[in-house]
Amino acid sequence: MINMKTTHNILFQDARDLKEVPSESVDLVVTSPPYPMIEMWDEMFSHQNPEIQDALAGGDGNQAYTLMHEILDSVWDEVFRVLKKGRFACINIGDATRTVKSNFCLYPNHARILTHLLKVGFSALPDILWRKQANTPNKFMGSGMLPAGAYVTLEHEYILIVRKGSKREFKTEAEKANRRESALFWEERNVWYSDVWTDIKGTEQKLPKAMSRLRSAAFPFELASRLINMYSVKGDVILDPFLGTGTTTAAAMTSGRNSIGVEIDNGFQQVICPIVHHIVDFSNGYLSDRLLRHYAFVENRIQNSGALKYTNKHYGCPVVTSQEQFIFLNNLETIQACGDNIFEVVYSTKSQDWDFKRPSEVLVADKMKLHTRPSQLNMLKTQ
Ligand SMILES: C[S@@+](CC[C@H](N)C(=O)[O-])C[C@H]1O[C@@H](n2cnc3c(N)ncnc32)[C@H](O)[C@@H]1O
Repeated sequence: MINMKTTHNILFQDARDLKEVPSESVDLVVTSPPYPMIEMWDEMFSHQNPEIQDALAGGDGNQAYTLMHEILDSVWDEVFRVLKKGRFACINIGDATRTVKSNFCLYPNHARILTHLLKVGFSALPDILWRKQANTPNKFMGSGMLPAGAYVTLEHEYILIVRKGSKREFKTEAEKANRRESALFWEERNVWYSDVWTDIKGTEQKLPKAMSRLRSAAFPFELASRLINMYSVKGDVILDPFLGTGTTTAAAMTSGRNSIGVEIDNGFQQVICPIVHHIVDFSNGYLSDRLLRHYAFVENRIQNSGALKYTNKHYGCPVVTSQEQFIFLNNLETIQACGDNIFEVVYSTKSQDWDFKRPSEVLVADKMKLHTRPSQLNMLKTQ
């Protein structure tokens, strides 16, 4: 049976030295570092190595880029140390374009990070290209309509996926049962394991004015949640060494995983605490949405292609494959602080009392009664 409590630890410190985290104790890393050569992070990097400020002031873009990555390298070394064998790291990173001393060029952050990850000993796996929906489709850089001087607009980021050692094994009956409960729906698998994600919008920075000195660049909740569900099972330990606003912690809580978040700027405490207070309602709403999307899919599929062969044992709803029969999304019951920046979440082991034979519109109405639910985690962050 799965562990029905999870623990979430937030450490306000520099992730270049994670001595509080034992070697080979983490099951998955989901993170997004500050992006080298993106101006909003210049100060953050320079603070950690003042030579970066000198390099930028002297117009030496390549030197600044190298020094910024050396800071990240130390964190990737720690990530390798703390991960258990057979476990994954998923790193969201965008390249940067910048003009230094009148020379416009691309700083290929994703390639530089991947090169270091391979040097440390990780194996690379197929990555995900996150194509953000553009706000202004006609924007261009360079000489506009005149050939040979215009630049392609950078509207994608990467999610690098690497593994430490060979494939994870699930040996005991309990491990296998937990893995089956942690499975994804067939229709989710088809979208989530695609190598291009186009359906997730970037998150705007919406920090309250009083916190405007904080640099956030939060990634969307959906991005962290998908990766956690794709690359870990319930009860695993998820680490984010660049926690920012706490998105990974929130996604781990929602998915029944434990977590450790590390953030150098303790100002983020003011952002993370309100999220914690709303997480039960938010998570239960998110989990209900997953189930409702599955109902809608099933209704459609049955109408178009006839009955499905399998039934989920917990919800009594049809599923496409035998692997989906034991999927169970644990609703959150309570969250409690149990120490400085340590939170414990308790989950329900009962499935929601919904009749899956009712049409999905009726279920949506039922669900609205059950949960007052902000549609985006971002809304919580600004409360
Ligand atoms: C791109 S943001 C992460 C945003 C996060 N994914 C979210 O959803 O809010 C990078 C974060 O890394 C933090 N950071 C930078 N250098 C760090 C270091 N050496 N150790 C720990 N955190 C660091 C920054 O303060 C910033 O909050």
